[in-house]
Amino acid sequence: MSSTELPPKSEPALRIFAMPKDANANGDVFGGWVMANMDLAGAVPAVERAGGRIATVAVNGMRFHQPISVGDLVTCYAQISSTGTTSISVVVETWAKRRLTAAQIKVTEGTFVYVAIDEHGAKRALPPSV
Ligand SMILES: CC(C)(COP(=O)(O)OP(=O)(O)OC[C@H]1O[C@@H](n2cnc3c(N)ncnc32)[C@H](O)[C@@H]1OP(=O)(O)O)[C@@H](O)C(=O)NCCC(=O)NCCS
Repeated sequence: MSSTELPPKSEPALRIFAMPKDANANGDVFGGWVMANMDLAGAVPAVERAGGRIATVAVNGMRFHQPISVGDLVTCYAQISSTGTTSISVVVETWAKRRLTAAQIKVTEGTFVYVAIDEHGAKRALPPSV
């Protein structure tokens, strides 16, 4: 990944500060915390496209490029990359702004796959896109 890469111009799906409770003894944030927030971020466009309830069915191509530290401002961008009969694939990029710096760097990316489900948790076809 190029260090000159800029974050997407789209509106972020989620912004959050990494706190001490999210980190290990070295002050680096747990990967599971990052994935949980990326799952939430990816669900934002997926819920809108599904027009209702969804479930995460897969996470593909997860890559941790750089560590996140306590105090970093973490921003997740989420964009639908494809849809199928019941599924919605969302590329989620996570960027971190280090404390006392202005630049954001891409720290993590992955594709989260959601399935539209009904009230019983069974998969359902996506509604037509508008
Ligand atoms: C989501 C769920 C209802 C889907 O039912 P299923 O019978 O397993 O569904 P399928 O195998 O037919 O897959 C459904 C869709 O997901 C897609 N999919 C499944 N696994 C995938 C993967 N690894 N990568 C990409 N897409 C995948 C399928 O291609 C299909 O897409 P399409 O309908 O658009 O063609 C069911 O798997 C489930 O309840 N899983 C648990 C969900 C959950 O608890 N999530 C939270 C985990 S923390």
